[in-house]
Amino acid sequence: MSEKLTDKRILVVGGGRGIGAEIVRRTRQAGADVVVAARSGPGVRIDVTDETTVARAAESLGAFDHVISTASAHHDVPVPELEHDKIQAAFSAKVVGPLLLAKHFFPRMPAHGSFLFFSGIVGWRPKPGTVVKGTSNAALAALVTHLAVELAPVRVNAVAPGVTDSGTWDRLPDERRRALYDSAAAASLAGRVGTLDDVADTALWLLGAGWVTGETVHVDGGARHR
Ligand SMILES: NC(=O)c1ccc[n+]([C@@H]2O[C@H](COP(=O)([O-])OP(=O)(O)OC[C@H]3O[C@@H](n4cnc5c(N)ncnc54)[C@H](OP(=O)(O)O)[C@@H]3O)[C@@H](O)[C@H]2O)c1
Repeated sequence: MSEKLTDKRILVVGGGRGIGAEIVRRTRQAGADVVVAARSGPGVRIDVTDETTVARAAESLGAFDHVISTASAHHDVPVPELEHDKIQAAFSAKVVGPLLLAKHFFPRMPAHGSFLFFSGIVGWRPKPGTVVKGTSNAALAALVTHLAVELAPVRVNAVAPGVTDSGTWDRLPDERRRALYDSAAAASLAGRVGTLDDVADTALWLLGAGWVTGETVHVDGGARHR
């Protein structure tokens, strides 16, 4: 698998932390030339909700073999508390952002190239308070099938992780994080939450999986089936 990434040019939007940072580390280890992008911090500035930054990055950085985005924005509230701006921000990060990345990076991409985006289990497990996250993640799964058809032979896929110890949950107080992990582990078939390795293994495999396109690969310890 790893030799398929040697000398490949890869853009990782959201590569500054969490799952994106692990993909950066692993693809570099595999010999790829990796550019990290995020809204702030070291690397190139791309905000997937701001088309100007996407267009500027595509013009200045040139062609990539693979473009990845882990960008997301959360708005987990009951329906009566929904806020229009935050709904739009969530869909902008997960759905509009990938469309803009495709718009600006596809014209420069070689035929063997691919896009890889991040959905999430909540798209398939409706629960009160998660309607925005659920529908934006499910919309992304629909988006990759449409993009895969239009951009072929360039491949377009998504990974849909279950609850993963990526660092993103460290913002919760210890007790709440432990409760989240315990209930997610109990709700999975594997009996545990995901690791960065679980998710990065699948992401790297998809980058090199030349006969897989238009797919959302579920990496959730079987939690969708409980
Ligand atoms: N961890 C989990 O349990 C889990 C479960 C299901 C699905 N997922 C999905 O997997 C993906 C990665 O998760 P994670 O845990 O690594 O999340 P994370 O730690 O929140 O990382 C998200 C990354 O996206 C970047 N980002 C956010 N908004 C952006 C924007 N508008 N433009 C450009 N970059 C943006 C962030 O960087 P800046 O803020 O610096 O820009 C950050 O580097 C997400 O899409 C998430 O929804 C994760």
